Amino acid sequence: MSPRARTPLVAANWKMHLTRGPAVRLVEEILRMRPLPEAVQVVICPPATALDAVGRVLAGTPIVLGAQTMHWEPQGAFTGELSAPMLVDAGCGAVIVGHSERRLYFGETDEGVGKKVQAAFAHGLTPVACVGERLEQREAGEADAIITRQVRAAVGGVAREAFPRLVIAYEPVWAIGTGRTATGEEADRVAGVIRRLIGTAGGPAAADGVRILYGGSVKPDNIREFLRQPEIDGALVGGASLHAGSFVAIVRAAAE
Ligand code: PGA
Repeated sequence: MSPRARTPLVAANWKMHLTRGPAVRLVEEILRMRPLPEAVQVVICPPATALDAVGRVLAGTPIVLGAQTMHWEPQGAFTGELSAPMLVDAGCGAVIVGHSERRLYFGETDEGVGKKVQAAFAHGLTPVACVGERLEQREAGEADAIITRQVRAAVGGVAREAFPRLVIAYEPVWAIGTGRTATGEEADRVAGVIRRLIGTAGGPAAADGVRILYGGSVKPDNIREFLRQPEIDGALVGGASLHAGSFVAIVRAAAE
């Protein structure tokens, strides 16, 4: 049995990679490497065009299908967007919201992230809300202030009883796709800041229940440095999730 207070969670963010054929082959390869540890919750977030195909392969397995973003409205004139009911219909149980690439390249705001978190909960999806400071913000000593603003906005409308279903991913922007990571101690410190903010917003049970992931250049050879930190409950994995071997190695490490 895992000595951890919370069920560890490892989420794969495939970003804008893989058409349906390779996506299905990757997930089949991951499933062939079973048994995956039961003590770890695994979420796989393919691009939207592959959700249905990957979801069919995952059906009946404990792996949760997730989307990489969504709109907060259930329907409407929002060309190109997908809603929570559409994601549920495609088989999703989770959705990433507020990823730094969405914030940076597509103008996502703190306010929009808050609305998306609420919409996810309203439709039974687990939101994986991403927060993280950019390099210049860290160097200016603003990291904690940025994280505080992002977390408050993300969870402002969350009902107390929903907090144990909430997942926050701390992803320092300068660590994403760069091969550079935060130290385990610093990631743990920031995760502690996040947990205290959640406690202020939702009370002690919320702080105890919320799962906080680290993300940013997570690989099989550095994942343990993060997972041994008391405040870190798992990882959001980009590049290393595109290979079955490295992704499964990270999932297995989360069960140790
Ligand atoms: P990376 O991406 O693991 O490739 O750094 C992480 C993420 O953006 O979620």
